[in-house]
Amino acid sequence: MSIQDPKRVIIFDTTLRDGEQSPGCSMSLPEKLRIAKALADLGVDVIEAGFPAASKGDWEAVQAIAREIQGPIICALARCNRGDIDKAFSAIKDAPRRRIHVFLATSAIHREHKLNMAKDEIIRAAVEGVRYAKSLTDDVEFSPEDASRTELDFLTEVVTAAIEAGATTINVPDTVGYTTPHEFSEVFSHLKKHVKNIDQAVLSVHCHNDLGMAVANSLAAASAGARQIECTINGIGERAGNCSLEEVVMAIKTRESFYQLHTGIQTTRLYPTSRLVSTITGMLIPRNKAIVGENAFAHEAGIHQHGMLKHHSTYEIMRPTDVGLSRTSLVLGKHSGRHAFRERIEALGFHLGDSELERAFVDFKTLADKKKELFDGDIEALVLRTDGATAGPWFFESLTTQASSGQAAIASIRLRHADGHIAEQSATGEGPVDATFKAIELATGLVVKLRSFEVRGVTQGEDAQGEAIVNVVHNERHYRGSSVTTNIVESSAHALIEVVNRILTTRQSSPSTHPQLSNDRAVVETII
Ligand code: KIV
Ligand code: ZN
Repeated sequence: MSIQDPKRVIIFDTTLRDGEQSPGCSMSLPEKLRIAKALADLGVDVIEAGFPAASKGDWEAVQAIAREIQGPIICALARCNRGDIDKAFSAIKDAPRRRIHVFLATSAIHREHKLNMAKDEIIRAAVEGVRYAKSLTDDVEFSPEDASRTELDFLTEVVTAAIEAGATTINVPDTVGYTTPHEFSEVFSHLKKHVKNIDQAVLSVHCHNDLGMAVANSLAAASAGARQIECTINGIGERAGNCSLEEVVMAIKTRESFYQLHTGIQTTRLYPTSRLVSTITGMLIPRNKAIVGENAFAHEAGIHQHGMLKHHSTYEIMRPTDVGLSRTSLVLGKHSGRHAFRERIEALGFHLGDSELERAFVDFKTLADKKKELFDGDIEALVLRTDGATAGPWFFESLTTQASSGQAAIASIRLRHADGHIAEQSATGEGPVDATFKAIELATGLVVKLRSFEVRGVTQGEDAQGEAIVNVVHNERHYRGSSVTTNIVESSAHALIEVVNRILTTRQSSPSTHPQLSNDRAVVETII
Protein backbone atom coordinates (compact mmCIF):
# COMPACT_ATOMS: atom_id res chain seq x y z
CA MET A 1 0.00 0.00 0.00
CA SER A 2 1.55 3.30 -0.97
CA ILE A 3 0.96 6.30 1.22
CA GLN A 4 0.20 9.50 -0.61
CA ASP A 5 -0.32 11.51 2.54
CA PRO A 6 2.81 11.42 4.75
CA LYS A 7 0.74 12.13 7.86
CA ARG A 8 -1.72 9.28 7.34
CA VAL A 9 -1.24 6.24 9.61
CA ILE A 10 -2.36 2.89 8.19
CA ILE A 11 -4.42 0.89 10.69
CA PHE A 12 -3.62 -2.82 10.39
CA ASP A 13 -6.08 -4.84 12.46
CA THR A 14 -4.95 -8.24 13.69
CA THR A 15 -7.94 -9.11 15.94
CA LEU A 16 -8.64 -12.17 13.80
CA ARG A 17 -5.03 -13.41 13.91
CA ASP A 18 -3.02 -12.25 16.94
CA GLY A 19 -6.26 -11.48 18.83
CA GLU A 20 -7.58 -14.95 18.19
CA GLN A 21 -4.43 -16.36 19.79
CA SER A 22 -5.67 -15.28 23.27
CA PRO A 23 -6.66 -18.40 25.20
CA GLY A 24 -10.39 -19.07 24.81
CA CYS A 25 -10.80 -16.55 21.98
CA SER A 26 -10.94 -18.90 19.02
CA MET A 27 -13.84 -18.01 16.76
CA SER A 28 -16.00 -19.86 14.27
CA LEU A 29 -16.04 -18.93 10.58
CA PRO A 30 -19.39 -17.03 10.76
CA GLU A 31 -18.11 -15.15 13.82
CA LYS A 32 -14.90 -14.18 12.01
CA LEU A 33 -16.88 -12.99 9.01
CA ARG A 34 -19.12 -10.91 11.26
CA ILE A 35 -16.08 -9.25 12.85
CA ALA A 36 -14.37 -8.75 9.47
CA LYS A 37 -17.49 -6.92 8.17
CA ALA A 38 -17.50 -4.73 11.28
CA LEU A 39 -13.78 -3.96 10.77
CA ALA A 40 -14.43 -2.96 7.17
CA ASP A 41 -17.25 -0.64 8.36
CA LEU A 42 -14.89 0.77 10.98
CA GLY A 43 -12.53 1.76 8.16
CA VAL A 44 -9.42 -0.28 8.99
CA ASP A 45 -6.92 -0.30 6.11
CA VAL A 46 -5.70 -3.89 6.49
CA ILE A 47 -7.36 -6.94 8.05
CA GLU A 48 -4.95 -9.69 9.06
CA ALA A 49 -7.51 -12.45 8.65
CA GLY A 50 -5.50 -15.38 10.00
CA PHE A 51 -2.62 -17.78 9.69
CA PRO A 52 -3.77 -20.24 6.99
CA ALA A 53 -1.04 -22.82 7.66
CA ALA A 54 -2.23 -23.17 11.27
CA SER A 55 -5.30 -25.29 10.50
CA LYS A 56 -7.89 -26.09 7.87
CA GLY A 57 -10.38 -23.94 9.81
CA ASP A 58 -8.02 -20.95 9.66
CA TRP A 59 -7.45 -21.40 5.94
CA GLU A 60 -11.22 -21.56 5.28
CA ALA A 61 -11.92 -18.47 7.37
CA VAL A 62 -9.21 -16.45 5.59
CA GLN A 63 -10.57 -17.56 2.22
CA ALA A 64 -14.15 -16.61 3.16
CA ILE A 65 -13.02 -13.18 4.34
CA ALA A 66 -10.92 -12.67 1.19
CA ARG A 67 -13.95 -13.52 -0.96
CA GLU A 68 -16.61 -11.57 0.93
CA ILE A 69 -15.08 -8.47 2.48
CA GLN A 70 -14.75 -5.35 0.34
CA GLY A 71 -12.55 -2.37 1.11
CA PRO A 72 -9.59 -3.27 3.31
CA ILE A 73 -6.51 -5.19 2.15
CA ILE A 74 -6.86 -8.81 3.30
CA CYS A 75 -3.62 -10.12 4.74
CA ALA A 76 -2.53 -13.66 5.67
CA LEU A 77 0.39 -14.58 7.91
CA ALA A 78 3.06 -17.12 6.94
CA ARG A 79 6.40 -18.32 8.25
CA CYS A 80 9.33 -17.97 5.84
CA ASN A 81 8.74 -21.27 4.05
CA ARG A 82 7.08 -22.18 0.79
CA GLY A 83 4.43 -24.41 2.37
CA ASP A 84 3.12 -21.60 4.60
CA ILE A 85 3.40 -18.98 1.87
CA ASP A 86 1.52 -21.17 -0.65
CA LYS A 87 -1.26 -21.73 1.89
CA ALA A 88 -1.42 -18.01 2.67
CA PHE A 89 -1.63 -17.09 -1.00
CA SER A 90 -4.22 -19.72 -1.89
CA ALA A 91 -6.44 -18.40 0.91
CA ILE A 92 -6.24 -14.70 -0.09
CA LYS A 93 -5.94 -14.97 -3.85
CA ASP A 94 -9.58 -13.98 -4.50
CA ALA A 95 -9.36 -10.76 -2.47
CA PRO A 96 -9.42 -7.64 -4.64
CA ARG A 97 -6.56 -6.27 -2.46
CA ARG A 98 -4.32 -8.78 -0.75
CA ARG A 99 -1.09 -9.05 1.23
CA ILE A 100 1.22 -11.83 2.41
CA HIS A 101 2.91 -11.19 5.76
CA VAL A 102 6.02 -13.31 6.33
CA PHE A 103 7.95 -13.38 9.57
CA LEU A 104 11.16 -14.82 10.97
CA ALA A 105 12.74 -14.25 14.37
CA THR A 106 15.98 -12.26 14.43
CA SER A 107 16.98 -11.77 18.09
CA ALA A 108 19.97 -13.64 19.57
CA ILE A 109 17.65 -15.37 22.06
CA HIS A 110 15.45 -16.76 19.27
CA ARG A 111 18.37 -17.52 16.95
CA GLU A 112 20.15 -19.57 19.60
CA HIS A 113 17.34 -21.17 21.59
CA LYS A 114 14.51 -21.55 19.09
CA LEU A 115 15.90 -21.61 15.57
CA ASN A 116 19.49 -22.71 16.06
CA MET A 117 20.38 -20.58 13.03
CA ALA A 118 23.30 -18.24 12.45
CA LYS A 119 22.81 -14.63 11.35
CA ASP A 120 23.65 -15.33 7.69
CA GLU A 121 21.16 -18.22 7.63
CA ILE A 122 18.45 -15.92 8.99
CA ILE A 123 19.13 -13.33 6.30
CA ARG A 124 19.08 -16.00 3.58
CA ALA A 125 15.78 -17.49 4.81
CA ALA A 126 14.15 -14.05 5.19
CA VAL A 127 15.21 -13.01 1.68
CA GLU A 128 14.01 -16.30 0.16
CA GLY A 129 10.68 -16.03 2.00
CA VAL A 130 10.08 -12.43 0.88
CA ARG A 131 11.14 -13.24 -2.72
CA TYR A 132 8.84 -16.21 -2.91
CA ALA A 133 5.89 -14.24 -1.49
CA LYS A 134 6.67 -11.43 -3.95
CA SER A 135 6.51 -13.90 -6.85
CA LEU A 136 2.85 -14.45 -5.86
CA THR A 137 1.68 -10.95 -4.95
CA ASP A 138 3.09 -7.40 -5.01
CA ASP A 139 2.12 -6.46 -1.48
CA VAL A 140 4.51 -8.23 0.91
CA GLU A 141 5.11 -7.44 4.56
CA PHE A 142 8.12 -8.74 6.47
CA SER A 143 8.42 -8.94 10.29
CA PRO A 144 11.70 -9.64 12.07
CA GLU A 145 10.07 -11.32 15.09
CA ASP A 146 11.41 -10.16 18.48
CA ALA A 147 12.88 -7.11 16.72
CA SER A 148 12.94 -5.08 19.94
CA ARG A 149 15.51 -7.52 21.41
CA THR A 150 17.57 -7.78 18.20
CA GLU A 151 21.02 -6.15 17.88
CA LEU A 152 20.43 -2.87 16.00
CA ASP A 153 23.16 -3.53 13.41
CA PHE A 154 21.77 -6.96 12.59
CA LEU A 155 18.19 -5.61 12.49
CA THR A 156 19.37 -2.96 10.03
CA GLU A 157 20.99 -5.65 7.87
CA VAL A 158 17.91 -7.91 7.84
CA VAL A 159 15.53 -5.04 7.08
CA THR A 160 17.73 -3.74 4.23
CA ALA A 161 17.88 -7.26 2.72
CA ALA A 162 14.11 -7.79 3.08
CA ILE A 163 13.37 -4.51 1.26
CA GLU A 164 15.87 -5.41 -1.47
CA ALA A 165 14.04 -8.75 -1.85
CA GLY A 166 10.74 -6.90 -2.40
CA ALA A 167 9.10 -6.25 0.99
CA THR A 168 6.83 -3.21 0.75
CA THR A 169 6.08 -3.02 4.49
CA ILE A 170 8.61 -3.63 7.26
CA ASN A 171 6.91 -4.38 10.54
CA VAL A 172 8.97 -4.04 13.72
CA PRO A 173 7.44 -6.18 16.47
CA ASP A 174 7.94 -5.89 20.20
CA THR A 175 6.95 -9.54 20.39
CA VAL A 176 7.35 -9.93 24.15
CA GLY A 177 6.20 -6.46 25.24
CA TYR A 178 9.66 -5.59 26.57
CA THR A 179 10.52 -2.23 25.06
CA THR A 180 9.77 1.28 26.35
CA PRO A 181 8.56 4.33 24.41
CA HIS A 182 11.92 6.09 24.48
CA GLU A 183 13.89 2.99 23.51
CA PHE A 184 11.49 2.02 20.69
CA SER A 185 11.54 5.53 19.31
CA GLU A 186 15.34 5.20 19.02
CA VAL A 187 14.98 1.87 17.17
CA PHE A 188 12.73 3.51 14.56
CA SER A 189 15.00 6.56 14.24
CA HIS A 190 17.98 4.23 13.77
CA LEU A 191 16.22 2.26 11.03
CA LYS A 192 15.14 5.46 9.27
CA LYS A 193 18.72 6.71 9.35
CA HIS A 194 20.68 3.54 8.57
CA VAL A 195 18.50 1.40 6.28
CA LYS A 196 19.57 2.82 2.91
CA ASN A 197 16.42 1.73 1.02
CA ILE A 198 13.93 2.56 3.82
CA ASP A 199 12.06 4.98 1.53
CA GLN A 200 10.93 1.97 -0.54
CA ALA A 201 8.84 0.50 2.30
CA VAL A 202 6.27 1.55 4.88
CA LEU A 203 7.57 1.21 8.45
CA SER A 204 5.11 -0.53 10.75
CA VAL A 205 4.91 -1.17 14.48
CA HIS A 206 3.46 -4.20 16.33
CA CYS A 207 3.46 -4.06 20.14
CA HIS A 208 2.46 -6.49 22.86
CA ASN A 209 1.25 -5.29 26.23
CA ASP A 210 3.22 -7.33 28.77
CA LEU A 211 4.34 -4.19 30.63
CA GLY A 212 1.18 -2.25 29.82
CA MET A 213 3.01 -0.04 27.29
CA ALA A 214 1.77 -1.35 23.93
CA VAL A 215 -0.18 1.81 23.07
CA ALA A 216 2.54 4.17 24.34
CA ASN A 217 5.23 2.23 22.44
CA SER A 218 3.17 2.28 19.24
CA LEU A 219 2.63 6.03 19.53
CA ALA A 220 6.36 6.57 20.14
CA ALA A 221 7.13 4.56 17.00
CA ALA A 222 4.61 6.61 15.01
CA SER A 223 6.25 9.83 16.23
CA ALA A 224 9.58 8.41 15.04
CA GLY A 225 8.30 7.58 11.56
CA ALA A 226 6.14 4.42 11.65
CA ARG A 227 3.19 4.86 9.31
CA GLN A 228 1.40 1.59 10.01
CA ILE A 229 0.18 0.52 13.45
CA GLU A 230 -0.79 -3.09 14.09
CA CYS A 231 -3.47 -3.41 16.74
CA THR A 232 -6.55 -5.31 17.89
CA ILE A 233 -10.03 -4.39 19.06
CA ASN A 234 -10.11 -4.23 22.89
CA GLY A 235 -6.35 -4.99 22.80
CA ILE A 236 -6.92 -8.75 22.77
CA GLY A 237 -3.99 -10.97 21.81
CA GLU A 238 -1.24 -13.29 23.01
CA ARG A 239 -0.67 -13.12 26.81
CA ALA A 240 -1.41 -9.54 27.97
CA GLY A 241 -2.62 -8.66 24.48
CA ASN A 242 -1.71 -6.26 21.69
CA CYS A 243 -1.89 -2.51 21.19
CA SER A 244 -5.56 -1.57 21.54
CA LEU A 245 -6.99 -0.16 18.31
CA GLU A 246 -9.54 2.11 19.98
CA GLU A 247 -6.94 3.59 22.35
CA VAL A 248 -4.25 4.26 19.78
CA VAL A 249 -6.73 5.70 17.27
CA MET A 250 -8.36 8.00 19.83
CA ALA A 251 -4.94 9.13 21.12
CA ILE A 252 -3.99 10.15 17.58
CA LYS A 253 -7.34 11.88 17.04
CA THR A 254 -7.61 13.60 20.43
CA ARG A 255 -3.96 14.76 20.39
CA GLU A 256 -3.84 15.52 16.65
CA SER A 257 -2.10 18.84 17.15
CA PHE A 258 0.66 17.07 19.10
CA TYR A 259 1.17 14.03 16.86
CA GLN A 260 0.33 15.77 13.57
CA LEU A 261 -1.02 12.44 12.31
CA HIS A 262 -4.40 11.01 11.40
CA THR A 263 -6.08 7.70 10.53
CA GLY A 264 -9.01 6.72 8.31
CA ILE A 265 -11.01 5.19 11.19
CA GLN A 266 -14.71 6.06 11.59
CA THR A 267 -14.39 6.59 15.31
CA THR A 268 -18.15 6.51 15.90
CA ARG A 269 -18.01 2.81 15.05
CA LEU A 270 -15.48 2.04 17.81
CA TYR A 271 -17.96 1.31 20.58
CA PRO A 272 -20.27 -1.06 18.64
CA THR A 273 -17.25 -2.89 17.18
CA SER A 274 -15.73 -3.28 20.63
CA ARG A 275 -19.01 -4.69 22.01
CA LEU A 276 -19.26 -7.11 19.10
CA VAL A 277 -15.72 -8.46 19.63
CA SER A 278 -16.29 -8.73 23.38
CA THR A 279 -19.52 -10.68 22.90
CA ILE A 280 -18.07 -13.02 20.29
CA THR A 281 -14.81 -13.72 22.15
CA GLY A 282 -16.35 -13.74 25.65
CA MET A 283 -13.55 -11.36 26.77
CA LEU A 284 -15.35 -8.87 28.99
CA ILE A 285 -14.28 -5.24 28.79
CA PRO A 286 -13.06 -3.95 32.18
CA ARG A 287 -15.31 -1.14 33.45
CA ASN A 288 -12.39 1.27 33.61
CA LYS A 289 -10.98 0.40 30.16
CA ALA A 290 -10.05 3.56 28.26
CA ILE A 291 -12.44 4.59 25.44
CA VAL A 292 -14.90 1.66 25.57
CA GLY A 293 -15.18 0.74 29.29
CA GLU A 294 -18.50 1.32 31.02
CA ASN A 295 -16.95 4.01 33.23
CA ALA A 296 -14.90 5.71 30.50
CA PHE A 297 -17.35 8.61 30.35
CA ALA A 298 -18.98 8.35 33.80
CA HIS A 299 -18.46 11.17 36.29
CA GLU A 300 -18.96 10.24 39.91
CA ALA A 301 -17.33 12.92 42.03
CA GLY A 302 -19.65 15.83 42.85
CA ILE A 303 -17.00 18.38 41.91
CA HIS A 304 -16.62 16.74 38.48
CA GLN A 305 -20.36 16.57 37.95
CA HIS A 306 -20.61 20.24 38.85
CA GLY A 307 -17.87 21.08 36.33
CA MET A 308 -19.53 18.96 33.65
CA LEU A 309 -22.80 20.83 34.15
CA LYS A 310 -20.97 24.10 33.50
CA HIS A 311 -19.10 22.78 30.48
CA HIS A 312 -18.25 19.22 29.38
CA SER A 313 -14.68 20.21 28.50
CA THR A 314 -13.88 20.69 32.20
CA TYR A 315 -13.51 16.94 32.71
CA GLU A 316 -13.98 15.38 29.27
CA ILE A 317 -11.28 15.25 26.59
CA MET A 318 -13.49 13.35 24.13
CA ARG A 319 -17.24 13.22 23.71
CA PRO A 320 -18.91 9.82 24.19
CA THR A 321 -20.55 10.29 20.81
CA ASP A 322 -17.08 10.57 19.18
CA VAL A 323 -16.55 6.87 19.90
CA GLY A 324 -20.13 5.84 19.13
CA LEU A 325 -21.37 5.68 22.70
CA SER A 326 -24.87 7.01 22.31
CA ARG A 327 -26.70 5.33 25.15
CA THR A 328 -29.81 7.10 26.36
CA SER A 329 -32.29 6.53 29.13
CA LEU A 330 -34.92 5.89 26.44
CA VAL A 331 -36.97 2.81 27.18
CA LEU A 332 -38.72 0.50 24.75
CA GLY A 333 -41.56 -1.80 25.79
CA LYS A 334 -43.96 -4.34 24.37
CA HIS A 335 -45.97 -1.68 22.58
CA SER A 336 -42.96 -0.34 20.69
CA GLY A 337 -43.12 -1.08 17.00
CA ARG A 338 -40.59 -2.19 14.39
CA HIS A 339 -39.84 1.37 13.41
CA ALA A 340 -38.86 2.50 16.93
CA PHE A 341 -36.89 -0.72 17.38
CA ARG A 342 -34.94 -0.23 14.14
CA GLU A 343 -34.25 3.42 14.98
CA ARG A 344 -32.85 2.50 18.40
CA ILE A 345 -30.63 -0.20 16.88
CA GLU A 346 -29.27 2.25 14.34
CA ALA A 347 -28.72 4.93 16.97
CA LEU A 348 -26.65 2.35 18.89
CA GLY A 349 -24.45 1.94 15.82
CA PHE A 350 -25.59 -1.46 14.53
CA HIS A 351 -26.60 -2.18 10.94
CA LEU A 352 -28.84 -5.21 10.51
CA GLY A 353 -30.08 -6.75 7.30
CA ASP A 354 -33.85 -7.35 6.94
CA SER A 355 -33.78 -10.97 8.12
CA GLU A 356 -31.48 -10.20 11.06
CA LEU A 357 -33.74 -7.32 12.05
CA GLU A 358 -36.79 -9.56 11.87
CA ARG A 359 -35.12 -12.19 14.08
CA ALA A 360 -34.07 -9.54 16.61
CA PHE A 361 -37.60 -8.02 16.58
CA VAL A 362 -39.21 -11.39 17.36
CA ASP A 363 -36.74 -11.84 20.26
CA PHE A 364 -37.49 -8.28 21.36
CA LYS A 365 -41.24 -8.99 21.57
CA THR A 366 -40.62 -12.21 23.54
CA LEU A 367 -38.36 -10.36 25.94
CA ALA A 368 -40.77 -7.43 26.26
CA ASP A 369 -43.42 -9.90 27.46
CA LYS A 370 -41.16 -10.90 30.35
CA LYS A 371 -39.57 -7.56 31.11
CA LYS A 372 -41.56 -4.33 31.24
CA GLU A 373 -38.86 -1.90 30.19
CA LEU A 374 -36.08 -2.57 27.73
CA PHE A 375 -32.97 -0.40 27.99
CA ASP A 376 -30.12 0.14 25.54
CA GLY A 377 -28.13 -2.71 27.15
CA ASP A 378 -31.05 -5.09 26.47
CA ILE A 379 -31.27 -4.02 22.82
CA GLU A 380 -27.50 -4.44 22.40
CA ALA A 381 -27.65 -7.94 23.90
CA LEU A 382 -30.41 -8.91 21.43
CA VAL A 383 -28.47 -7.60 18.45
CA LEU A 384 -25.13 -9.07 19.52
CA ARG A 385 -26.49 -12.48 20.44
CA THR A 386 -24.16 -15.13 19.10
CA ASP A 387 -25.48 -18.13 17.24
CA GLY A 388 -23.48 -20.67 19.26
CA ALA A 389 -26.36 -22.12 21.27
CA THR A 390 -28.76 -22.09 18.36
CA ALA A 391 -26.33 -23.69 15.89
CA GLY A 392 -26.71 -27.22 17.33
CA PRO A 393 -26.30 -30.16 17.36
CA TRP A 394 -27.81 -29.78 20.84
CA PHE A 395 -30.81 -27.51 21.39
CA PHE A 396 -32.32 -26.36 24.66
CA GLU A 397 -35.92 -27.45 25.26
CA SER A 398 -36.64 -26.89 28.96
CA LEU A 399 -35.11 -26.68 32.41
CA THR A 400 -36.57 -27.00 35.92
CA THR A 401 -34.55 -26.43 39.04
CA GLN A 402 -35.30 -26.73 42.70
CA ALA A 403 -33.08 -25.21 45.34
CA SER A 404 -33.53 -24.48 49.00
CA SER A 405 -30.94 -23.48 51.57
CA GLY A 406 -29.16 -26.32 53.32
CA GLN A 407 -30.16 -28.90 50.71
CA ALA A 408 -28.68 -30.12 47.45
CA ALA A 409 -30.22 -28.44 44.38
CA ILE A 410 -31.91 -30.54 41.71
CA ALA A 411 -32.02 -29.73 37.98
CA SER A 412 -33.88 -31.52 35.20
CA ILE A 413 -32.92 -30.66 31.64
CA ARG A 414 -34.55 -31.58 28.36
CA LEU A 415 -32.41 -31.24 25.23
CA ARG A 416 -33.09 -32.05 21.59
CA HIS A 417 -30.39 -33.33 19.25
CA ALA A 418 -30.27 -32.32 15.57
CA ASP A 419 -30.91 -35.99 14.67
CA GLY A 420 -34.29 -35.69 16.46
CA HIS A 421 -33.70 -37.61 19.65
CA ILE A 422 -34.58 -36.10 23.01
CA ALA A 423 -32.27 -36.39 26.02
CA GLU A 424 -33.72 -35.84 29.48
CA GLN A 425 -31.56 -35.99 32.59
CA SER A 426 -31.69 -34.88 36.22
CA ALA A 427 -28.80 -34.23 38.57
CA THR A 428 -28.13 -32.82 42.00
CA GLY A 429 -25.48 -30.24 42.79
CA GLU A 430 -24.16 -27.62 45.19
CA GLY A 431 -26.56 -25.07 43.75
CA PRO A 432 -28.94 -24.77 40.77
CA VAL A 433 -26.17 -23.90 38.28
CA ASP A 434 -23.95 -26.79 39.39
CA ALA A 435 -26.91 -29.20 39.18
CA THR A 436 -27.82 -27.84 35.72
CA PHE A 437 -24.27 -28.29 34.41
CA LYS A 438 -24.17 -31.86 35.69
CA ALA A 439 -27.52 -32.64 34.05
CA ILE A 440 -26.24 -31.21 30.72
CA GLU A 441 -23.10 -33.36 30.97
CA LEU A 442 -25.25 -36.44 31.54
CA ALA A 443 -27.60 -35.56 28.67
CA THR A 444 -24.86 -34.84 26.12
CA GLY A 445 -22.31 -37.38 27.38
CA LEU A 446 -19.61 -34.69 27.27
CA VAL A 447 -17.65 -33.99 30.43
CA VAL A 448 -15.86 -30.64 30.57
CA LYS A 449 -13.53 -28.97 33.04
CA LEU A 450 -14.93 -25.60 34.13
CA ARG A 451 -12.27 -22.89 34.06
CA SER A 452 -14.38 -19.86 34.84
CA PHE A 453 -18.02 -18.92 35.20
CA GLU A 454 -19.16 -15.32 35.31
CA VAL A 455 -22.58 -13.72 35.57
CA ARG A 456 -23.34 -10.04 35.12
CA GLY A 457 -26.43 -7.91 34.62
CA VAL A 458 -26.61 -6.26 31.21
CA THR A 459 -28.77 -3.43 32.52
CA GLN A 460 -29.84 -2.07 35.88
CA GLY A 461 -33.02 -2.99 37.75
CA GLU A 462 -34.51 -5.98 39.48
CA ASP A 463 -35.70 -7.62 36.27
CA ALA A 464 -32.38 -6.97 34.47
CA GLN A 465 -31.22 -9.62 32.03
CA GLY A 466 -28.29 -11.71 33.20
CA GLU A 467 -25.39 -12.66 30.95
CA ALA A 468 -23.63 -15.91 31.81
CA ILE A 469 -20.17 -16.59 30.39
CA VAL A 470 -18.73 -20.06 30.72
CA ASN A 471 -15.10 -20.98 29.95
CA VAL A 472 -14.07 -24.62 29.92
CA VAL A 473 -11.06 -26.75 29.01
CA HIS A 474 -11.62 -29.89 26.97
CA ASN A 475 -8.74 -31.95 25.55
CA GLU A 476 -6.37 -29.09 26.41
CA ARG A 477 -8.34 -26.56 24.35
CA HIS A 478 -10.27 -23.61 25.68
CA TYR A 479 -13.91 -23.12 24.74
CA ARG A 480 -16.41 -20.51 25.81
CA GLY A 481 -20.11 -19.88 25.62
CA SER A 482 -22.34 -17.03 26.67
CA SER A 483 -26.02 -16.28 26.84
CA VAL A 484 -28.32 -13.50 28.00
CA THR A 485 -31.80 -14.13 29.40
CA THR A 486 -33.87 -12.85 32.31
CA ASN A 487 -33.10 -16.04 34.28
CA ILE A 488 -29.41 -16.52 35.16
CA VAL A 489 -29.69 -20.28 35.67
CA GLU A 490 -31.24 -20.62 32.22
CA SER A 491 -28.54 -18.30 30.77
CA SER A 492 -25.92 -20.58 32.33
CA ALA A 493 -27.54 -23.64 30.72
CA HIS A 494 -27.59 -21.95 27.28
CA ALA A 495 -23.95 -20.89 27.70
CA LEU A 496 -22.83 -24.45 28.52
CA ILE A 497 -24.86 -25.86 25.61
CA GLU A 498 -23.03 -23.40 23.36
CA VAL A 499 -19.73 -24.74 24.72
CA VAL A 500 -20.80 -28.34 24.07
CA ASN A 501 -21.84 -27.43 20.53
CA ARG A 502 -18.54 -25.66 19.90
CA ILE A 503 -16.59 -28.71 21.09
CA LEU A 504 -18.61 -31.06 18.91
CA THR A 505 -18.39 -28.89 15.79
CA THR A 506 -14.66 -28.24 16.27
CA ARG A 507 -14.08 -31.99 16.51
CA GLN A 508 -15.82 -32.44 13.15
CA SER A 509 -14.19 -29.57 11.26
CA SER A 510 -10.54 -29.26 12.31
CA PRO A 511 -8.80 -31.09 15.08
CA SER A 512 -5.79 -28.82 14.88
CA THR A 513 -5.35 -25.77 17.03
CA HIS A 514 -3.03 -22.82 16.49
CA PRO A 515 0.49 -24.17 16.56
CA GLN A 516 2.81 -21.84 18.41
CA LEU A 517 4.21 -19.48 15.84
CA SER A 518 7.49 -21.33 16.17
CA ASN A 519 9.40 -20.97 12.96
CA ASP A 520 11.79 -23.71 13.99
CA ARG A 521 14.83 -24.40 11.91
CA ALA A 522 13.35 -27.52 10.31
CA VAL A 523 10.34 -25.63 9.00
CA VAL A 524 12.46 -22.84 7.58
CA GLU A 525 15.07 -25.10 6.05
CA THR A 526 13.07 -27.89 4.46
CA ILE A 527 11.06 -25.67 2.24
CA ILE A 528 13.23 -22.76 1.23
O1 KIV B 1 4.31 -10.51 18.00
C1 KIV B 1 4.84 -10.84 16.93
O2 KIV B 1 6.05 -10.80 16.75
C2 KIV B 1 3.95 -11.30 15.86
C3 KIV B 1 4.56 -11.46 14.52
C4 KIV B 1 4.03 -12.65 13.82
C5 KIV B 1 4.38 -10.19 13.73
O3 KIV B 1 2.76 -11.43 16.07
ZN1 ZN C 1 2.13 -10.38 17.90
